[in-house]
Amino acid sequence: MSISVLQQLNQLHEASVAAIAAADSLEILERVETELLGRKQGQLTAILKTLSLLDAESKKTVGARANQVKMELDALIAARRTELALLSGAGAIDISEPFLPRQEYGALHPITEVRQNLETFFRGKGFLVLDGPELESEFYNFEALNIPADHPARDMQDTFYIKDHPTLLMRTHTSGMQVRALQMYGAPLAAVVPGRCFRNEATDVRHEHTFYQFEGFVVGENVTLAHLKGMLEAAAQHLYGPQTQVRLRPKFYPFVEPGMNGEVTCVICAGQGCKLCKGTGWLEIFGCGMIHPEVLKAAKLDPKKVSGFAFGLGLTRIAMLKYGVGDVREFNAGDLNFLQQ
Ligand code: FA5
Repeated sequence: MSISVLQQLNQLHEASVAAIAAADSLEILERVETELLGRKQGQLTAILKTLSLLDAESKKTVGARANQVKMELDALIAARRTELALLSGAGAIDISEPFLPRQEYGALHPITEVRQNLETFFRGKGFLVLDGPELESEFYNFEALNIPADHPARDMQDTFYIKDHPTLLMRTHTSGMQVRALQMYGAPLAAVVPGRCFRNEATDVRHEHTFYQFEGFVVGENVTLAHLKGMLEAAAQHLYGPQTQVRLRPKFYPFVEPGMNGEVTCVICAGQGCKLCKGTGWLEIFGCGMIHPEVLKAAKLDPKKVSGFAFGLGLTRIAMLKYGVGDVREFNAGDLNFLQQ
């Protein structure tokens, strides 16, 4: 009995090695494995079940051989499975894998892109890029800029004040950095200051309580309005193309004299007149002017010796024009549908 079981085992081993090698698809290999090792009807399983009928001595010999055959066939089947998977390409891409959710890649916020673009431009012209405090003192935001407490210009830039700290407020513009920077570095100085600003005003498609500005100023001997115009034209052409023109028209700002409103030829109609520019052909994107002598004095500079120009761009406004965004409030809404476009 024991010899015949051993013979059966050896015959089965021989036949199985051949069957495994001959299996030329994963399905056939699967079938060979079931016929051999299947729990209910596998041929090797059936032989193993007869072991209990053997005497102790034979059980030992046959049992050892049976385990050896099983392990060898298991290994051959696993190796052939890998081989067939590689041949069919299924090893590289397992098409039975569950579908993974799409990878999300972040991108720079549109305002960050515009800010970095302008920073690079002005750095190339020799400007420092400075950061300033969003929580600002009343002195730098207003008084140093020639806007005393009772000045009506304060009404145009109402903001958020800090409880129990009457001299602190959320800055309404980046212009306060003119005096801070001049106090710190003195003249001559050329710097730009990008930053977040805040105003307590009713919001609409063009106005937000929180928005971004980009301030620039140059102070030194014999700095003139012609320098201001040339610099603004270069910046506008960098942003909107070489055909872009700049128009300056008088506007009152207490911290510049003369003060001007800066417009560029409309990015949509190139000056012909359209809905965006309300038929005028021009778009207002910045305030600017020659720094007021009182501001230079607040920075401890002598207005008889040095002069300077300053400008303030609405960064949010520039991003709106660049990306064709109709409502300024989209930028702060955190809406992925908007940001992913
Ligand atoms: C100023 O804030 C001046 N500090 C600019 C300046 C700097 C003038 C240097 C002269 C010399 P104004 O209030 O106009 O100016 O604001 C400048 C720009 O900020 C506006 O053209 C607009 O693009 C943007 N801005 C102002 N208020 C808001 C708001 N609530 N929401 C979005 N953008 C705003």
